[in-house]
Amino acid sequence: MKKFVFAAALSLAVGLVAPWGDVGAAQQAPDPQLQVSDCVKCHPKVVHQNQEAGTKHKTEVTCLDCHDAGHPPSTPVDQMIPKCSKCHEGEPHFEVKNCLGCHRNPHTPLKITFPENESVKPVCNTCHSEQVQEIDQNPSAHANVDCSFCHTKHGYIPSCLKCHEPHRQGQKFEDCVSCHRVHQPLNVAYGPDIPNKDCGACHGDIRKLLEAGQYKHAKLQCVYCHKDTHGNIPACQDCHGVPHPEAMIKNFKGCLDCHVDPHNLTK
Ligand code: HEC
Ligand code: HEC
Ligand code: HEC
Ligand code: HEC
Ligand code: HEC
Ligand code: HEC
Ligand code: HEC
Ligand code: HEC
Ligand code: HEC
Ligand code: HEC
Ligand code: HEC
Ligand code: HEC
Repeated sequence: MKKFVFAAALSLAVGLVAPWGDVGAAQQAPDPQLQVSDCVKCHPKVVHQNQEAGTKHKTEVTCLDCHDAGHPPSTPVDQMIPKCSKCHEGEPHFEVKNCLGCHRNPHTPLKITFPENESVKPVCNTCHSEQVQEIDQNPSAHANVDCSFCHTKHGYIPSCLKCHEPHRQGQKFEDCVSCHRVHQPLNVAYGPDIPNKDCGACHGDIRKLLEAGQYKHAKLQCVYCHKDTHGNIPACQDCHGVPHPEAMIKNFKGCLDCHVDPHNLTK
């Protein structure tokens, strides 16, 4: 009875004589008389979603390229659903599981939502292997969480400040990444432009001492001497060579016997 009502409705809507009364030959073949323009009559929601955000599943394929196996009631509903691999093959990304776990709606394929209870890292790896390698090869607390812990949506970049307190007041996201690379946060490395106040956030005493000094080191940036990586300590001779006659210094253990402290020189 349900079938009959449905068949009658479909015939009315499409204007054709119920073709699926006849089981057998018509079973596999798509209904030749069901046009793409008919779908909207009974599936308006899907058609509108596809119109609005179908991207290439709107422009490069039609409803009937995917649903090409026929239509109920001659074709059972489950035979109408194409496998993604029908058209997407031959790339690592197409070998992963559960395509619809992220591409939730095939009619709007770029509206991507990450699944909550499984790791997305292997899938990210199919396109961003550089970042996956970086995080895997540099153990840190960030390597112990999934990519989607931070990238909750594709392409979204969170600020460090969403999860961490800054080292000093007023420090911004751009400051954080001038010292920390987020996928290897423990390897602190930086360029020549770090202001003293960013080092002083943790080494406040040294900063005060240095900047209050009366000799020329007082004008230098911390990173002018402590170059490139955190904890790097230069030798005085790297910059000054041998500034004194051998006879003058031979009875001293080092430069600091006389100059006392690089952050507070004495002459
Ligand atoms: C006259 C109304 C009507 C038209 C026109 C129509 N359909 Fe359907 N379609 C239905 C109904 C009703 C069902 C549900 C059948 C069932 O559950 O047994 C259905 C089921 C489907 C399904 C399976 C849905 C599921 O639950 O998995 C797909 C896919 C589908 N139609 C695609 C299309 C496409 C593509 C077109 C256009 C070429 C189209 N339909 C045209 C009424 C229609
Ligand atoms: C790129 C392939 C593809 C295209 C193009 C496509 N579909 Fe689908 N469609 C699917 C897949 C895959 C599913 C099953 C989705 C699922 O299991 O969640 C589906 C499910 C459906 C369903 C049942 C589920 C629902 O959301 O109601 C309907 C109805 C449907 N499609 C109609 C259409 C219509 C109408 C069009 C054209 C506007 C269309 N499809 C275009 C692949 C496609
Ligand atoms: C009938 C063929 C067909 C099927 C089935 C199909 N696709 Fe596609 N899809 C295409 C074509 C053609 C394109 C455009 C060319 C390309 O990007 O490869 C495309 C593009 C896409 C895109 C990129 C969209 C864009 O606008 O850039 C995504 C994502 C996608 N498909 C996901 C899927 C998923 C997930 C499935 C299974 C649910 C699926 N496709 C099934 C044909 C298909
Ligand atoms: C963990 C989530 C996830 C899963 C699972 C997933 N994808 Fe994707 N897919 C993405 C993301 C993210 C993009 C990039 C979208 C962009 O560039 O905006 C993408 C892009 C695509 C594209 C367009 C780019 C291209 O390489 O052609 C296609 C097609 C595609 N996916 C198909 C599939 C298929 C088929 C499957 C299952 C075999 C699948 N996806 C599984 C997240 C996923
Ligand atoms: C199918 C390929 C594909 C997959 C899978 C994919 N991406 Fe992407 N992703 C891209 C493309 C293409 C872009 C945009 C181009 C670019 O900036 O490199 C992008 C951009 C990004 C960006 C923004 C980059 C920027 O500079 O603004 C982030 C963050 C990102 N992806 C994270 C992820 C994460 C996390 C995953 C796993 C859940 C993932 N992507 C899966 C292709 C992919
Ligand atoms: C702790 C949070 C966090 C985790 C975990 C994380 N990311 Fe990121 N990711 C970020 C932030 C923040 C940026 C922006 C970094 C910047 O601008 O210097 C970023 C940038 C990116 C970019 C853009 C290109 C780049 O290198 O700057 C891609 C692609 C990306 N992440 C992919 C991934 C992938 C894949 C994973 C999982 C292996 C992952 N991310 C894990 C926070 C995270
Ligand atoms: C979505 C939350 C989130 C974001 C965004 C995030 N982190 Fe983390 N980060 C964590 C968690 C959780 C831990 C481990 C617990 C802790 O130390 O607070 C951590 C730990 C760290 C550690 C210590 C690592 C270790 O192994 O002990 C550093 C350094 C760090 N984060 C720096 C950053 C920087 C810099 C950014 C931005 C570029 C950032 N984080 C963005 C959540 C985040
Ligand atoms: C001048 C360089 C520099 C800047 C800028 C910087 N950090 Fe750090 N950060 C470090 C150093 C060095 C450590 C390691 C200290 C140690 O060995 O205990 C560290 C440690 C951390 C830790 C680990 C826990 C802790 O507090 O010791 C987190 C989290 C962190 N930084 C987050 C941030 C955030 C968020 C920002 C931006 C607001 C930021 N950092 C800016 C150099 C910097
Ligand atoms: C988040 C706090 C923090 C920041 C920011 C920070 N440091 Fe440190 N620094 C420490 C801690 C804690 C130690 C001692 C533990 C260690 O050896 O890692 C240290 C040690 C050092 C050492 C001595 C290493 C050794 O082997 O004795 C130098 C040199 C140093 N920091 C320079 C700097 C410079 C230059 C900056 C700015 C670019 C800076 N620090 C930023 C926390 C920080
Ligand atoms: C990264 C390079 C660098 C390192 C390392 C360095 N200095 Fe200097 N030093 C300088 C510069 C630059 C000046 C200023 C020179 C000028 O303006 O003529 C300076 C000046 C001095 C002066 C003269 C101060 C004045 O006001 O006349 C003394 C003394 C001195 N350094 C001692 C040392 C000692 C001792 C060490 C090791 C503990 C050391 N320096 C390490 C770069 C360095
Ligand atoms: C002129 C070069 C120079 C400048 C500028 C400089 N330092 Fe140093 N720093 C050194 C040298 C050389 C040593 C090793 C002293 C020793 O051998 O005892 C050192 C040692 C350190 C140490 C480890 C020993 C200690 O005293 O705790 C820290 C931490 C440090 N510097 C932080 C800083 C900070 C922070 C700044 C900026 C406020 C800074 N330095 C500016 C040359 C410099
Ligand atoms: C015996 C004590 C003594 C030792 C050891 C010593 N210095 Fe000096 N140094 C001095 C005195 C005193 C001056 C001041 C000379 C002047 O102002 O004319 C000075 C001046 C300097 C100057 C400034 C020169 C200028 O032209 O203004 C530099 C740079 C310097 N020393 C670097 C070093 C370095 C590097 C070492 C270790 C290799 C070192 N000194 C070891 C006593 C010492």
